[in-house]
Amino acid sequence: MTLRPEGTAPVVRAYLEHRLFTKAPIIKIYYLGPMFRHERPQAGRFRQFHQIGAEAIGSENPAIDAEIISLLNHLFEDLGLEGIELQMNTIGCRNCRPEFKERFKVYMEAKAARLCPDCVVRLQRNPLRIMDCKEEGCQKVIRVAPRFSQVICDPCSQHFRELEGLLSLLKIDYQVNERLVRGLDYYTRTTFEFINPVLGAQNAIAGGGRYDGLVEEIGGISTPAIGFALGVERVVVSLPEDRPCLKAPYRGVYVATLGDEAFRSGMLILSELRRRGFRASIDYENRSLKSQMRQANKEGYRFCIILGDEELKEGEATLRDMEKAQQERVPFSNLVDRLLALGEERGA
Ligand code: HAM
Repeated sequence: MTLRPEGTAPVVRAYLEHRLFTKAPIIKIYYLGPMFRHERPQAGRFRQFHQIGAEAIGSENPAIDAEIISLLNHLFEDLGLEGIELQMNTIGCRNCRPEFKERFKVYMEAKAARLCPDCVVRLQRNPLRIMDCKEEGCQKVIRVAPRFSQVICDPCSQHFRELEGLLSLLKIDYQVNERLVRGLDYYTRTTFEFINPVLGAQNAIAGGGRYDGLVEEIGGISTPAIGFALGVERVVVSLPEDRPCLKAPYRGVYVATLGDEAFRSGMLILSELRRRGFRASIDYENRSLKSQMRQANKEGYRFCIILGDEELKEGEATLRDMEKAQQERVPFSNLVDRLLALGEERGA
């Protein structure tokens, strides 16, 4: 019998075993269930706990990073959680990460006498985990240690800047925490955690990031991916006393865009739709309008919002009812109300 510690590696194995890459350019999967870890139990840290996770496999577009983060952000907002902080970092790729690891290790080896016994072990096994140490003596050493931002390569730095731009566009607050390394080995580039500061030492209610090398490591072709998992027990203890009930999502809306500017407006509309309870999706691959519509149909979306140059100029979108094959032009500000008026039903 094997007890799984987490869901990402199993999802990647299933992705390869069932050849899910032949089904769509980006595969999005969610899961929930018990996980098991042989860790030292303490408040908020159990040997059996539950996770809800989601993975998006197939794109390196930073807009997917923004989507994954905003999905969690919406969920925590809907649940009425307060005082939650989002911390984010980039830990680089196979080109720039090894150099940083090496520099950091050499630096820490020189300071080994000032590290706690746990960190002396970490120095051999996984030196970057030293950054997580809460011991005051180690913290002093860490504060002046080499920083990842000193060695990051241009493509990684550009990727992170684009993600930051999208989060600002979506009005999602975050802090860059250069010490955020995360406990699992597969991460590359974006890493993030949602923190509830009142929970004490085990205060991460969700965490995730990119793992652009994992599909290849498990035996597939090089495929970028990103995901998250939230800890159900930690979210439950964070819920306010008078928590609201979550609403079932309305039937789906697919946002089809043409060009960069339309895509940015599309991201805003996508975010608003989700905030208002719609199941909604957008294309990240710059595909033709025709193939976006085909995808919307295939995935069973009832409505499609189409944004091109002409629509943008007028501040309007084309709203298409896929079932009835009818369409109309609607100003951006009326989109959600119009969709509701068109008789969207809950729970379908
Ligand atoms: P993780 O940070 O190890 O990431 O776990 C995610 C969340 O599960 C944590 O933020 C925490 O809320 C909860 N959690 C973890 N360990 C425990 C424990 N011993 N007791 C209670 N709660 C716990 C992952 O598992 C990655 N698979 C996330 C991911 C998905 N990255 C990419 N895709």
